[in-house]
Amino acid sequence: MIPRTTNLRRILPLAVTLAASTLGCSEGSTGPADDDAEPAHGRLRRAAAAAGKLLGAAVNSGALASDPTYAEILAREFDYVTPENATKWGPLEPADGTYSWANADTIVDLAEQNAQSVKGHTFVWHQQAPSWLNALGAEELRAAMKQHIETTLERYRGRVRAWDVVNEAVDTTTESGYTDSVFYRALGPSYIEDAFRFAREADPEVLLFYNEVGLERAGPKSNFTYELMRALLERGVPIDGIGFQSHVSIHRYPSLDNLRENIRRFAELGLRVNVSELDARTLLMPGDRDARWFAQRIAFQQVVGACVAEPGCEGVTLWGFTDRYSWINDEGEPDDPLVFDRDYAEKPAYDGVLAGLAGRLPVAGDNLVGNGDFSSGSERWTASEGELEVDAAAARDGSAACLRTRSAEDAAIQSADLREALSAGGPLAFSSVVLVQGAERATLEATLVVEEEGVGPRVLSLATVEANDTGWTELSGYVGLGFTAEPTNIVLKIGGAPAGVDVCLTQVELRPLSSP
Ligand code: G3I
Repeated sequence: MIPRTTNLRRILPLAVTLAASTLGCSEGSTGPADDDAEPAHGRLRRAAAAAGKLLGAAVNSGALASDPTYAEILAREFDYVTPENATKWGPLEPADGTYSWANADTIVDLAEQNAQSVKGHTFVWHQQAPSWLNALGAEELRAAMKQHIETTLERYRGRVRAWDVVNEAVDTTTESGYTDSVFYRALGPSYIEDAFRFAREADPEVLLFYNEVGLERAGPKSNFTYELMRALLERGVPIDGIGFQSHVSIHRYPSLDNLRENIRRFAELGLRVNVSELDARTLLMPGDRDARWFAQRIAFQQVVGACVAEPGCEGVTLWGFTDRYSWINDEGEPDDPLVFDRDYAEKPAYDGVLAGLAGRLPVAGDNLVGNGDFSSGSERWTASEGELEVDAAAARDGSAACLRTRSAEDAAIQSADLREALSAGGPLAFSSVVLVQGAERATLEATLVVEEEGVGPRVLSLATVEANDTGWTELSGYVGLGFTAEPTNIVLKIGGAPAGVDVCLTQVELRPLSSP
């Protein structure tokens, strides 16, 4: 199990809160003397302190240097900062042994002035790694890694609360399950363990995190990473925490239960869980801006609310805070994934974060799917192919539908037209339970197929899960539904297993989400 020494850095958020109250800049305070002055801490920062969670933002060095409004909001609204790029290996050590500390120093200095904690990001990552690493042999690379970690930790000893030691080492689309990187190719998976051990030797106090993309969603990647963490911790590898990056889109993101269960299981390994890079794209959901931004508010509220509800989650870091500087804008498809707009106005998502910090979760309305429990037999359900059989559910109360004699992978259990029920669109929570027969396990997917006037069908993936033949598995997810034209047909489909595998389903729900 991981070592658990109490030290100043680990209790910094509490210390900062106490210090801030002593100095008169805690919740509700307007700071010293001047009654007209802005509160030193904004609403987000005060709400995070009240919730006992860290609220962070990734810091863009260019914006920090050139944009006073950016710097002012960063200081006011967040108590935890992560350099977005300045502490990556490439920017920090562009040539072997030659360091470029200026941007990182600025962020750490400012954080101290603003009583914010810092998380460094990231020692070992295949992106933004310096090109000189490519010329090194295995042992040279290991030595370079050790040197880089030691030098950086030495410089910021006592001033940085935590580091992402390894980032994105898992890729379940490869044969090995590991990311094909300069590190993996030269050293195999041992580089992960080595990096953590080097970091712990260099600084016995700082918190050491593993950070990964796509973990928030239950599934193969989350499972692989969970097993990796379990194995490493069992071998005594010093890992203190895990970051769920959480780059989501409002047209599809994990359900609350899914996210909470995932947080819980990693926390039960003894890891501090951080939501480490939260942003929520909106433009993949058609519809006007108000509808998209409302769905985005719900997404932020849900993720932040999940962290607040789970004692094992210590905080949420947003990957930036203003749409003006989001990394997504540089990816060729600009979006509006953050909580302040491009002119620094607070968006509905800002209120979503506030509500989440206050422990208020989005509320689900009535189920919009008729006969989702199959209590009226197969009414309102059909088979796109194969035979639909409704009977008493195996090993649970109530009824279930099973699709048998499927001769194609796309043979699915299909709902009646849901147009009337779903005409308002918006954020929806989908849930169901599924089982397969005729195979030990198979991946199932729920989709919403939306046909619109003059537009080809759009297939929205609601959720995927690996189902098995021994017990019911939850298949759930969230979707932001919008329309590009008048809908002519909307059906829900559950299928995806190989031909010949029976798909069983019950408790199907699609509930609209709101935030009263
Ligand atoms: O600093 C150089 C600048 O000198 C040069 O003129 C300019 C020309 O394009 O590039 C600048 O570097 C860019 C850097 O951002 C700073 O703006 C890089 O090209 C660009 O690749 C880099 O993108 C960053 C990306 O990681 C790198 O893959 C994004 O800002 C950053 O938000 C993103 O963050 C990652 C996390 O670290 C890990 N998780 C995923 C997340 C999103 O991809």
